[in-house]
Amino acid sequence: MSFMDKLNISKCRGLDPSTQSNYSDFKVNDTTLDLAVSFENRAIEGVVLYNLFNKTGTDQLVLDTNVLRIKDVKVNDSPAAFELEMAKPVVGSALHISIPRESTIKIEISFETTEECTAIKFMMGDTGPFVFSQCQAIHARSLFPCFDTPAVKSPFKFFAKSPARVTMSGRPIVSKIPDVYSFDQPIPIPSYLVSLTSGNLHKAPIGPRSDIYSEPTNLKQCQWEFEKDMENYIQIAEALVFDYEWERFDALVLPSSFPYGGMEIPNMTQLTPTLVCGDRSQTTVMAHELAHSWSGNLVTNCSWEHFWLNEGWTVYLERRILGAIAAKEARSQGKSEDESRAYGEQARQFDMLSGWNSLVETCDSFDPQYTKLVIDLKGKDPDDSFSRIPYEKGFFFLYLLEKKLGGVEHFDPFIKFYFKKFRYKSLDTADFVETLYEFFSPLGKKDVLDSIDWNKQLFSSGVPDEPVLDTSLADEVYEYGRKWVDFVQKGDFSLIPFSDADTSSFSIEQNIFFLEYLSEKFKSIEVPPELVKKLPSVYPKYARSQNGEFITTWNDILIRNGNYNAEDEVVKRFANWLGHTGRMKYARPGYLLLKNGVSSEFAISQFKKHESFYHPICRAMIEKDLGLA
Ligand code: BES
Ligand code: ZN
Repeated sequence: MSFMDKLNISKCRGLDPSTQSNYSDFKVNDTTLDLAVSFENRAIEGVVLYNLFNKTGTDQLVLDTNVLRIKDVKVNDSPAAFELEMAKPVVGSALHISIPRESTIKIEISFETTEECTAIKFMMGDTGPFVFSQCQAIHARSLFPCFDTPAVKSPFKFFAKSPARVTMSGRPIVSKIPDVYSFDQPIPIPSYLVSLTSGNLHKAPIGPRSDIYSEPTNLKQCQWEFEKDMENYIQIAEALVFDYEWERFDALVLPSSFPYGGMEIPNMTQLTPTLVCGDRSQTTVMAHELAHSWSGNLVTNCSWEHFWLNEGWTVYLERRILGAIAAKEARSQGKSEDESRAYGEQARQFDMLSGWNSLVETCDSFDPQYTKLVIDLKGKDPDDSFSRIPYEKGFFFLYLLEKKLGGVEHFDPFIKFYFKKFRYKSLDTADFVETLYEFFSPLGKKDVLDSIDWNKQLFSSGVPDEPVLDTSLADEVYEYGRKWVDFVQKGDFSLIPFSDADTSSFSIEQNIFFLEYLSEKFKSIEVPPELVKKLPSVYPKYARSQNGEFITTWNDILIRNGNYNAEDEVVKRFANWLGHTGRMKYARPGYLLLKNGVSSEFAISQFKKHESFYHPICRAMIEKDLGLA
């Protein structure tokens, strides 16, 4: 019996349920997207032109739209009738266009965004009007009519007219028209990678093929944060997979309402300003977005049910990059080749341990249907399914394969093979498993693959089998953390035998790990609020940190255990920081902390006060979290 007979194939193959388009009838030869930004109207007008190959000879084209105004449609240069269906929840309004049953078809659609557009955020930046878009997973349809599925890819030409500098998802090309910016994206990309940013953007170099863009106010800090490792990251990734194909890797630090840590826009990765924290400790997010240049942007999941193929692979590459950087650092400090490699692996394993902890925590708290590796999104909103699961369950699935198939030396050739095989394409999980067999069976490893319970790995909810991880770097933290647990359990707080100096030998990652350890332990032991209230003077280093990782975990410890009320300085400071932090990783747990640690009324009133600051996606999620939706 072949593995394909054992694998429940219907669960990992099929059409994308998150699109209403009839995408499987067409191939998109190329797309031209021409936009015009109006800061006055807070709207974007545009024309999209598709050159299609009609594979099946259908007489209907169906595209995705949502809260979009369609002005007119031309088919093969002649005005054509169209019909916009009533909006359905989540998937939006299908746009129907009658077409001739010919093989090549040219479609031109004029449109305009509306106030309800979920992809774009207009705001006042530090130095002028600013707008940015965020289309993943299915928000592109609120920006322009499209086949809004990652199964469809097309090369693009982009044009945008705006009074302020524009960046889009491609390589800039010289434009002779004033206020019009042009870009070329010769590599086929899906709709979710289409992006536009416009504002008072300046740039500074952070590597031989990389610039960082931001408003001029913090350009220098941005440059400092990323210039040390940008090119190292690229070269390590190239050695691991193959040459970087997109020519330049530039990145853009957005205003603080950007809802994610980073977004892998081709040629212009978008980043949250929370990465620019002055200690270079968050630059691994840049490594993550860079890794998407292979996993996600070249090799793409064919629907959001297989999102782990994008994110699990990206975390896998990110951790390999992180390990290689740690090894490089050890070498530069005079360690031998072997010692350095061992240290690099320890660093990778330490990062895995944080990942494992967040995987367990997510499995324990999140909707079980979404803790599977491959999920079912029929009738569901992909934004609701978003969690650490595709990242960490995906990672640990790949790590299991790495181990079982003989370690990195044996797994690395597969990495290159897999990415070569699927570059410029979209795939599902069955394609992935098939490719494992294709590659490893001739190497005598078919039995190893057959020993894996694919149905359990891919379709079961909850925590997978626990991997054995090297805890060397964590053990130092555990040893110190246990002293805290003993101290709290003894119950004599007349003298607190701890201070900042205790952790001075810890790396930043170990410090974060320590706070996570305390936060977790304090959930299961009785911690008197009077003791908690003294913590800021015990650890001024944590209390003063500007790094979001510290701010969130530190305040979690304080507010969850300190019995504070809305008037306390600690709460006011944190609530104020939240009101200016749109990164969902921080904002969503932050409001839940206010709700559970102070009161529901307080959390809601704070959110209401800052509501207009957030990106529509973030706002919608916090509304759901606080029971306002
Ligand atoms: N592509 C994601 C961000 C994303 C996911 C946007 C789903 C919309 C829907 C990006 O690459 C990402 O994973 N960002 C992480 C960074 C982290 C894992 C290093 C984030 O934002 O937290
Ligand atoms: Zn990612």
